[in-house]
Amino acid sequence: MKLRTLNNLDFKGKTVLLRCDLNVPLNNKGEVSDITKIKRHKITIDELIDKKAKILIISHLGRPKGKEVEELSLNKISDEFVKVMNIKEITVLPFCRPNIIKSVLKEKKEGSITFMENIRFYPEEEENNQNFAKELAAIGDYFINDAFSVSHRKHLSTFSLSKFLPSYLGRSLELELTMLNKINENIDRPVMAIIGGSKISTKINLLSNLVKKVDFLVIGGAMANTFLIEKELNIGNSLVEKDKIDVVKNVLQKAKENNCTVILPKEVVVSKSLNGIENVKNINISEMDNDLAIYDIGEKTIEEICNTAVTCKTIFWNGPLGVYEVPPFDNSTNVIGRTIAILTKGNIVTSVVGGGDTVAALNNAELTGGFSYVSIAGGALVEWLEGKKLPGLQFLENL
Ligand code: 3PG
Repeated sequence: MKLRTLNNLDFKGKTVLLRCDLNVPLNNKGEVSDITKIKRHKITIDELIDKKAKILIISHLGRPKGKEVEELSLNKISDEFVKVMNIKEITVLPFCRPNIIKSVLKEKKEGSITFMENIRFYPEEEENNQNFAKELAAIGDYFINDAFSVSHRKHLSTFSLSKFLPSYLGRSLELELTMLNKINENIDRPVMAIIGGSKISTKINLLSNLVKKVDFLVIGGAMANTFLIEKELNIGNSLVEKDKIDVVKNVLQKAKENNCTVILPKEVVVSKSLNGIENVKNINISEMDNDLAIYDIGEKTIEEICNTAVTCKTIFWNGPLGVYEVPPFDNSTNVIGRTIAILTKGNIVTSVVGGGDTVAALNNAELTGGFSYVSIAGGALVEWLEGKKLPGLQFLENL
């Protein structure tokens, strides 16, 4: 696969349609709570401004499903965007048709930045509507995909714009692919994968694939609960996907066949509810009561994971291990994150962390700087690791 980079391209006075991933987390006041994704695009945007392009930013925010939803307007992120880019102003257009966007851009100066409204307000985006793709493409001279983290979606703005315009990789996407390829090609063993998050259903293929490739598979987050009930352990009121027990059986069987050791929580941190912090206890899973729920991995299991990490050369992490937003349920994520950061600093392991939530959890503890590589991609990284072809990168193959 040849990387079509921005090297040697002349953008002076040209209009560039730039697909970014500005799908940042918002807090309950609707404010941006983590700017990592915005920062990632700075390298590309700075270069396009220097090269005097007129930039039209295309991004989604949340999942409005083809409807205008005020809380998911890109206006929500414009202040943070301006700060991160260190620029004076941007224009966020109201929700409008491509011909209006085109006429606005005609009047814009070289180096200007215009946002079209959340691309998922348009039902045509997820339908991958070809007429709309042509209309949108007619605004620009180039299409640049800078959003690895959305490249697993076969949507109009990730897949189809590249059919109608000369298309290139933004610097952030180029860096992401270069780093991931390098790590994937020279993987040092033993390898440990730490997979958390709430749903097995979103990670079935990943888990089935990982057990064939890694030496240790740590399962955390609410996903671990389904593994625990497969072992006929009581998980009280905890979240669980009972219809996924067969999937779990299959993953465990494949792990056995491939000599992959699966590490599950043996000790857990429990409470009656997320608000009942005073009732928090660290217990052995065998001591679980029906009115308790599991919110984090417990001490002995953290120790087991850290001791195993020390014996590894490569560590991959996707998905938070506990409810990290509510202390003290961020403990396992913080302690394991710190251990991996120390091992990385000492050149003992190469560590890769991926996924918006995981990055936010580690940012919370100021630990992201300690990893060898931090990918903002969640679902896209998972599919890439499964060996799937990502629709947003398909234009690189058609050369
Ligand atoms: C992400 O946050 O992983 C990307 O922005 C993709 O979002 P999506 O899962 O809503 O397509």
